Amino acid sequence: MKIAEARQLMQFRAPVLSRRQRVLNHAFNVEEYRRAAKRVLPASIFDYLDGGAEDEVTLRRNRAVFDAWGLMPSWGPVSGPDTGTTLLGSHSELPLTLTPTGATRLFHPEGEMAVAKAAAKAGVPYTLAGLSTVSMEAVAKNNPTLQRWFNFGLGQAPQARDEKLERCRDAGYNTLIVGVDTRALGSRERDLHNGFTAPPALTLSTLAEITLHPGWWVGFLKSAGISFPNLDPVSAEPTAISPSMWQEILGHSDAGSGWNDLQALREAWSGKIILKGCVNPQDVERAADIGLDAVQLSNHGGRQLDHMLSPMDVLQECRQRVGDDLEIHVDSGIRRGSDVVKALALGADACSIGRAYLYGLVAAGSPGVSRIIEIFADELRRTMTLIGVSSIAELKTKGADVIRDVRNATIELGHSEPRPEARHDAFAFAPQPSTPFAGATHDPPSVSPLPSVS
Ligand SMILES: Cc1cc2nc3c(=O)[nH]c(=O)nc-3n(C[C@H](O)[C@H](O)[C@H](O)COP(=O)(O)O)c2cc1C
Repeated sequence: MKIAEARQLMQFRAPVLSRRQRVLNHAFNVEEYRRAAKRVLPASIFDYLDGGAEDEVTLRRNRAVFDAWGLMPSWGPVSGPDTGTTLLGSHSELPLTLTPTGATRLFHPEGEMAVAKAAAKAGVPYTLAGLSTVSMEAVAKNNPTLQRWFNFGLGQAPQARDEKLERCRDAGYNTLIVGVDTRALGSRERDLHNGFTAPPALTLSTLAEITLHPGWWVGFLKSAGISFPNLDPVSAEPTAISPSMWQEILGHSDAGSGWNDLQALREAWSGKIILKGCVNPQDVERAADIGLDAVQLSNHGGRQLDHMLSPMDVLQECRQRVGDDLEIHVDSGIRRGSDVVKALALGADACSIGRAYLYGLVAAGSPGVSRIIEIFADELRRTMTLIGVSSIAELKTKGADVIRDVRNATIELGHSEPRPEARHDAFAFAPQPSTPFAGATHDPPSVSPLPSVS
């Protein structure tokens, strides 16, 4: 066969040399980005990102709960579908938010800035962690269109609290997320086994990891040292953190805070407040009673209390208790557009992703975070079309009509172990797919109490 003839039968494409581009070309879902992230990060950092508390029962349950619900399409015409929605009075392109994850520059040198850029581009809200490694002012300056939410710590003296609130207001953060699930730090046994320290200590095993993950180490050592510029109530000056301060921050507990602090915050802040980290319908009712705007049902992605219920276990009951009095957002284990559909059908207004966007960040920087959001958008649109709903409003109205509890179905539900490694993973020189990707388009101890570390 002549080359000209062979050409008609085959498509020749030059190999893609950039690792990042290979990931972007060949990873099609969150799990594939997770595997790509695992290749990039030193094992101890990956385990800190990926792992959960104790036996990781809750971590696994966070995925299994989604398998307990089946989708029930209804026949009829569908238009769009329109994924836009209103969250806390503002338009969001998707019923999706990016939840706070502290110390993001540990995972990628661009850290929170890269995440903020992708969220702004996608038109979805992003919550900057109290322990973020980039200042709230810098994020605001670089992303004027971003819906900016801030992860606010309770338990500060009134003056420090009010100064910090002013700082948030001045930087254009209109919504506070207050975490209530870090009265003690969860025991993450992967971290104990790895001897995980932040910043990473130079040991024999770290040296071995440098050999295995040179790219991450070069990025980490070349970028400015990790600091927490949002800890001080007033100043955006980065607070340099010594190893002993790291340990103090990581061991911090906010066990002393209670409903009075929340009530006082409500009185001091005229913007929106979201209570994050509860799964108890009584707490949700109480949040509504004191005039909060939303709750984010969460078990901290299984990183805190092992055996804690998952938001999906209590979502319907929470919605029944509070009616339309407050918004309900849900996080922990959201990995697919169909998860978002199931949560909205059971009464949520939005879902929030944590590890999913971090996998994208580690694997491919800001474009990786963008791609993760696109994957959610694409899966959400496809699932909505296939079940027969044209808008988020229609999905919420139909609610439990599009879903059935399949826990008692006769088939054995395996729980969500990751699928076997794909034959062509995101790092291999894999053939181009025949169909292109259809993506749619806590204060240093001397300054004030610490925000929750996670
Ligand atoms: C690496 C990492 C750091 C986190 N840091 C914080 C934090 O600073 N504040 C907070 O409220 N939650 C934090 N969380 C919890 C997330 O906000 C969220 O509840 C959780 O990641 C959701 O589960 P998912 O990762 O399965 O999506 C963190 C989670 C991870 C994975």
